[in-house]
Amino acid sequence: MLANDNTRPVKLHTEFDPRVVAIAKPARHHRYLLAPNGDWLGTADGDTLRVQGHVDDAAIWDATDGGFEHAVTGLRLEADGTALEEPTRLRRGGAELGADGGPGAGADFTVAHGPEKLPSASLRELREQGWVSLTCVLSPSVVDGLQMVGCVDAYEGREPVRKPPLAQHPAVAKVTAEPVSLWLTREYMGTRDIRLGHAPGVMALPQDDGQREVQGWHTDFPYLWGTGDRVPMPSGDLVLGMQRNVCVSDFRKDNGATVFKLGSHRSNTPPPVEWGRSTQTYRRGSRANNGLPYGGPQADVIEAPAGSIVLYDARTWHRAGMNTTPSKRGAMIQAIVPGFIMPFMDTSATLKAFLASDACKQVTERERKEIDNLMLHKIAGPAGVFAITVDAELTERARGQQAAAASVY
Ligand SMILES: [Fe+2]
Repeated sequence: MLANDNTRPVKLHTEFDPRVVAIAKPARHHRYLLAPNGDWLGTADGDTLRVQGHVDDAAIWDATDGGFEHAVTGLRLEADGTALEEPTRLRRGGAELGADGGPGAGADFTVAHGPEKLPSASLRELREQGWVSLTCVLSPSVVDGLQMVGCVDAYEGREPVRKPPLAQHPAVAKVTAEPVSLWLTREYMGTRDIRLGHAPGVMALPQDDGQREVQGWHTDFPYLWGTGDRVPMPSGDLVLGMQRNVCVSDFRKDNGATVFKLGSHRSNTPPPVEWGRSTQTYRRGSRANNGLPYGGPQADVIEAPAGSIVLYDARTWHRAGMNTTPSKRGAMIQAIVPGFIMPFMDTSATLKAFLASDACKQVTERERKEIDNLMLHKIAGPAGVFAITVDAELTERARGQQAAAASVY
C-alpha cells in the first residue's frame, strides 16, 4: 500500500475552490462548576453529586434564574451568582455544597465557560465523521491569552517572547488541558493513557507571498502516510493518533484554514500523489515549476470562529491553507497519541520550564495534573517507572551514526 514514489514531481494545480464547511458561532454555551481544585461538579444519576477529574455529560450545567440546572438530569442547584469566571456558593435544598460536592462547609465553586453541545453528542459526531468541531469551546479570556502569546489579532504588533509558550501564559496550559477534546480523544482512541506528540506552540501564518513553497497533502503523526510512513500498515480500529487544531484566530478559507479531505481516514491510504504530497511540495522550485497542491471541489475547508477546536483522526488527508489576507492567522496544532507511541518531539524540557513558571501557579491543580499526564513520557516496566528525556551524549552518538550512514564514502 505504501510503497510508491513520494517525491516524483507531477503537474499540480492552480485552482482553489474547495467545499466550505462553515461553522457558526454558538448562540449559547453550557456551564461548568469548578471545585476549588479545578475538578468538575457533576451528577450521573440526577441525585448523587460529586466532583470528577474529567468532563463528560455528567459535568454539564446550564445557568438559570437563581442557580444552575444539570443539562441531562435536570437536577437544580441554588447559587449566589451565575457570572462567568466568578466564584459562587452552591446550595441544594438550602444546604451548602462542600469542596467534594457533598453537603458540608460551603466551598467556593467557579462558574466556567462550557461547550456548546453535550460531550456525548460530540463523540457521536466524531465516531461518525472522523472529525468534530468544538465550536468556541475556549473561554474568551483563554482566546485572548493565546492571541497574545501568538502575537496575532489584537496583538499583531507585539514582539514574540522567546520562551516556551506553556511557560509564558496560563492560557496555553488551559487549552492544552481542554477537557472535552481530551475526553473525546480518550474515548475515540480507547485509552485513558494519552500523550502530546510535541510541546504546544502557537503558530502565526503570515500572508502568502505567491512564491514560497507550501505544505502538501499528508496524514498526521504517527501515520505520516505518503510522507514518512511511520506506521507500516493500516491500523483499523486501533487509533494511533488524533490531531487537535485550535483556532486561535478565526479560521476562514481566505486566511489559511486547514484544507481537508473529510472522511478520508476510512480509506487507510495516503493522499494521492496527483494531489501533491508534502514530500513533493516542500522542495525548492516545486511551486514555480509544478503548481500548488490540490484545492478543488473534492477538498473541504472548515471555517470556524476563534476559540474553536477541530479534532480529527490523524489519518485524515489534509494540508495547510494559504493566507491571502494581510493579517496573520493564529493556530495551535497538536498531535495526541496513546502513551505507547514514541513522541514526535521531546516534551520534557518544556514541561520542566512550565513547572518552574509563574504560568504554572496560575492554573488549577487539575490542569497541572493533566499537563503531567500529557507531557511526561514514561517507560514503565519490571524495574519501575522512569521519565524519558533527551540525553545529550547519546544524541551526539545517534547523529554521528546517522551522518555516517548518509555519507557516500
Ligand atoms: Fe498536519
